[in-house]
Amino acid sequence: MLPTIRNDEDGGPLYGKVAGRISYLIAQGTLRSGDRIPSIRSMSKQMQVSINTVKEAYNQLEDRRLIKARPQSGYYVRARLPELPAEPVVDRPALNPAEVNLSEVYQMVMRDLLNPELLPLGIAIPNPELLPIEKLSRMLTRETRRFAIQSVSYDLPPGNLHLRKQVAQRLLLSGCSLSPEQIVITSGCVEAVVLTLQALCKPGDAVAIETPVYFNFLQLIEKMGLKALEIPVSPRGGISLEALEYALDRNPGEVKACIVLSNFNNPLGSSMSDEDKLRLVNLLESYAVPLIEDDIYGDLSYQDERPSVAKSYDKTGNVVLCSSFSKTLAPGYRVGWIAAGRYQEEIECLKMITSVATASPPQQAIAEFLATGGYDRHLRTIRRAYAKQAAQMGHTIGRFFPNGTRVSKPQGGFVLWVELPEQINALDLYKQALECGISIAPGQIFSIAGKFSNCIRLNAAFWNLEVEKAIETLGNLATKLIK
Ligand SMILES: Cc1ncc(COP(=O)(O)O)c(C=O)c1O
Repeated sequence: MLPTIRNDEDGGPLYGKVAGRISYLIAQGTLRSGDRIPSIRSMSKQMQVSINTVKEAYNQLEDRRLIKARPQSGYYVRARLPELPAEPVVDRPALNPAEVNLSEVYQMVMRDLLNPELLPLGIAIPNPELLPIEKLSRMLTRETRRFAIQSVSYDLPPGNLHLRKQVAQRLLLSGCSLSPEQIVITSGCVEAVVLTLQALCKPGDAVAIETPVYFNFLQLIEKMGLKALEIPVSPRGGISLEALEYALDRNPGEVKACIVLSNFNNPLGSSMSDEDKLRLVNLLESYAVPLIEDDIYGDLSYQDERPSVAKSYDKTGNVVLCSSFSKTLAPGYRVGWIAAGRYQEEIECLKMITSVATASPPQQAIAEFLATGGYDRHLRTIRRAYAKQAAQMGHTIGRFFPNGTRVSKPQGGFVLWVELPEQINALDLYKQALECGISIAPGQIFSIAGKFSNCIRLNAAFWNLEVEKAIETLGNLATKLIK
């Protein structure tokens, strides 16, 4: 029996929700090609909606060529869904360190990514409908009343003790035994990485970094006058340790830090095994290169348990672990943290010099949410939702995009990396998508050398009929671009 539809579910009209349920069951393989789907009458009874609602939903599914009516017999699942497209091949050789110069394309794309008029498929933001907004605001009000003086005062580095205790407790789940004194609160994960780079590098130094990678880090490297040494990432196993070792050998003494997104990296969604995390820590230690580990997506694993972090293998303080609550709780609260290893003192000092402190009220609210708000329950809900949505988007890409398109199969997080046939320039697709009211992130901004020009990144945090339609539109545009 299918569960009753709630009115607040997914937004949009009721028939859209019924259609969404059926298309999900088809995408998942629960309903297969040739299977009879429940009659209109029994569906209306099962889902407690009107006959007309189900009729409308079935009409829509017919229009989308997912089901077919057979006279006198009922409705059947139409074509077999294509398999999920193959995964991208992004293994490209490491380069020498190079200056980054992406500003123009980056600025243009950022303007569009943040344009509220566009459907936000390009920017990696969580779905606000899946965030505990009400509960967080209640806690914000309660905590700022309870600790009124503290809430209007500077919470000087290392930051709110209640929050640092909660972070230290949660770190046990990632395999780290750290005390609250070993944690510095920051204004988001980006600030955590900025402070760490400031502590480790000076202009002209090289930073080893995954490719493709979250474009803000490339911008950061450019603006800090650093060079990027790009290391390929495998769509399943994370950064290539062979390529990293080769690059470190070729550039002795030049590399002053290595940034790795060890769990569910952005944009590929791939993760390193525990064994590779240990190898990474040992490798960098032997070259005296500090590791900056960004674990912002670690809590969004599609498995029941979150994975470990490389920091859990760190015996010497060479690993600086950075993260935030921007993907799981509230990007607007701007609360992140660093487990700074041997750079703790220096990073606390830099935090003080550059921003004095992170705003106090959001630190208080997030600390309280972690302590009493059911964070684990919340994580279970959003992990399930993102896993389901990433699969739905992957299948939909398989249906509508041209042959030869490849799609990542993330193991966590909520972004998909799509590799289009080589003839397609992602910037052309990006411009045409804008005209249709859709923003996407073109592959060019994910590397320093304009690589990945036939790739795009899509955000699967949102999934409804409008997004499904947008994927169809993108697929049609991509097909036309080949012709
Ligand atoms: C890998 C990675 N790190 C950091 C950030 C930004 O984190 P915050 O908003 O906490 O500064 C993002 C956002 O997309 C990201 O993908």
